[in-house]
Order: sequence, then C-alpha cells, then structure tokens
Amino acid sequence: MQVINTIAALQTALQSAKPAVVGLVPTMGALHEGHLSLIKKCTSMCDICVASVFVNPTQFNDKGDLERYPRTPEADCKLLEEAGCNIVFMPSVEEMYPEPDTRTFELGPVSEVMEGKYRPGHFNGVAQIVSKLFYAVQPDKAFFGEKDFQQIAVIRSMVKLLNINVEIIACPIIREKSGLAKSSRNTLLTDEQRKKAAKISKVLSKSCTFAKSHSVKRTIDWVAAQLDEEPFKLDYYEIVDGITLQPVSKWSQSDSIVGCIAIYCGQIRLIDNIRYK
Ligand code: PAF
Repeated sequence: MQVINTIAALQTALQSAKPAVVGLVPTMGALHEGHLSLIKKCTSMCDICVASVFVNPTQFNDKGDLERYPRTPEADCKLLEEAGCNIVFMPSVEEMYPEPDTRTFELGPVSEVMEGKYRPGHFNGVAQIVSKLFYAVQPDKAFFGEKDFQQIAVIRSMVKLLNINVEIIACPIIREKSGLAKSSRNTLLTDEQRKKAAKISKVLSKSCTFAKSHSVKRTIDWVAAQLDEEPFKLDYYEIVDGITLQPVSKWSQSDSIVGCIAIYCGQIRLIDNIRYK
C-alpha cells in the first residue's frame, strides 16, 4: 500500500495504473469496521482502491467538534493495509485548501432538511471536499456508508450538478453488537454513555412494529418519547421519503420511507436511521 500526501503524487501513481477501474473511499479517519466494509466492497468491485483520510475543516459547523474529532493516522494505515487498500491519500489542510474554498453549491431540497437545517454549512463543506477528491482521484466508483443517509443523497445531487462521471455506491450501516451504529464519534462516549447509546437503534428498530398500527406522526412522537431521558437530547427524528428526503405524513405516500435521527448522547452528537419500507 502506498501512502501519498499530495495530489500531484496521487495523480502520478494513478496514471501508471490506468486503465484500471478506480474506486474511492473518502473518510475522515479514526477508522472502524464500518469504513472497512466500504474498503472491502471497493476492492471487490474495483482494480485499485484509494482511501482518503482527511478531517475536513470546512464541514464542521462547530469548532469544538472539529477539535474533538478523533485522529488515529497510524492505526488507520495499518487497518487499511490489512483490508487490501492500494493507496491511502492523507493530504494536509494546505494541500486540499491552498486558497479558501469560497464555492457555494445549490444542492437542492435534499440538502435543506434535517442535517442541512441543524448543521448550517455542513453539506456545503462536504460538497467542497468530496468534489476536490473526485477531481483529484477521478474515481469510477465512490463508496459511502448509509449511516450518513442524507449525505449520500447530497453527494448524488452534487455529482449531477457538476456533471462528474462517478458511480455512487451506498453501503449498509455496520453496527456494534449492541446495535449502536458504528461511528468514529463512538470512541468519544464514556463506557456508560456507550451502553446507553445502544437504546437509540433499539428504539428505531421497535418503531417499525409500532409503525404498523400507528400514523407517521404518532410514530415520530413515540420515538421522541422513548429517548426523552438522560443522557439523550434529541435534535430531530424525521420520517422522510427515501429519495427526496422530504417528510412524509402518510405511510402510503411513498414506496421508500426512512426514519432519520440526530441525538446528543451527553456532548456527542450521533446519527442513525431505519428503513420502514
Ligand atoms: O462521511 C464522512 O466521513 C465525510 O463527510 C466525508 C464524506 C469523508 C467528507 O469529508
């Protein structure tokens, strides 16, 4: 596995590999089994697997969150090598942003709800870095985890907006034994909080049974009530169309319906989602 820090060196390495099918797994490091499942999928579908490890400052709307974000570059390289990754791209902030990125993207309604509302500027920052990574790597396919369900929709919207020729592959959520969705932020939870955080996925999963005999609104209220206790503080629970991400009011409204949650467990903000249909 090659570890590369500059776009120029990355492009030289990729040029010598052409006409291989190139896959990209963009990450912010602190890798866990969720990321490794993306690498596995990428190596199974592509000739060359490139993983990027870059904590992108422009997508953090909270400075404290950026400072707290876990960074484990040596462990990441080891895990990536073991998983069969060919190239890890670990640029500096100066390499990715030699000039401040002043681009603002019109990413449409999928970007305006949920995370778009609660984390202003977040998706614009994601679009800035992911577009730069797509320009640098020119991947045939790019792999993203469905824990960030809305992010995938936003990236698909960006790819259309910019006419980037890349196939976006969505990969299922990987969960801890307790059911908690794997996330780099889980390492920031205390042992006690981590145990309690398992309740989030349990409630989501039980809500599928509740939903069978209750309205969308009652289901939303039920989920919120179940998690209305210490150490939780709910940002939102929304039940949305799986494609447009707009809220639905009736189960019959769409063939694809997903519930998306953002919730604080102590100081740490976690997201998860569940498919109703
Ligand atoms: O999902 C993430 O880890 C990040 O948002 C991404 C896609 C790597 C962009 O920084």
